[in-house]
Amino acid sequence: MTQLNVNGKTVNVVADPSTPVLWALRDNLQLTGTKFGCGAALCGACTVHIDGQPTRSCVTPISAVGTQKITTIEAMADDKVGRAVQAAWIKHDVAQCGYCQSGQIMSAVGLLRAKRRPTDADIDAAMAGNVCRCGTYARIRAAIKDAAQSLA
Ligand code: FES
Ligand code: FES
Repeated sequence: MTQLNVNGKTVNVVADPSTPVLWALRDNLQLTGTKFGCGAALCGACTVHIDGQPTRSCVTPISAVGTQKITTIEAMADDKVGRAVQAAWIKHDVAQCGYCQSGQIMSAVGLLRAKRRPTDADIDAAMAGNVCRCGTYARIRAAIKDAAQSLA
């Protein structure tokens, strides 16, 4: 059994220590907002925050987390920056199929926590690891700028 801190709560996960955080979230804790895309740290669909850092949960074993705090898309409605990003996403109608968007939002929130006024280059660098097969990149960039303004 592994003890994790997920969205502010201590939870016990009965799984092999090598189990990726992604599967502990989805299968053990029913937090299915975090998506599986590539399973190889290449697409960003599975992005969560670990101690505030956007992290690929598909390649992070639960044994590596320890007491660090895991935060998922499910907690973004209770978070000031998360709410601003989600509102901007709706305003700009960012999502198409939506599959990548949970990971995109987690990366965007991580960026805005680190930099309240990101440049285009900052946005491109922070979001480079999040792939969108629907090609919503222009709207993602516009929404991040809008969220930054609303938080100013
Ligand atoms: S599923 Fe983790 S990066 Fe693609
Ligand atoms: S919205 Fe479809 S993959 Fe990004």
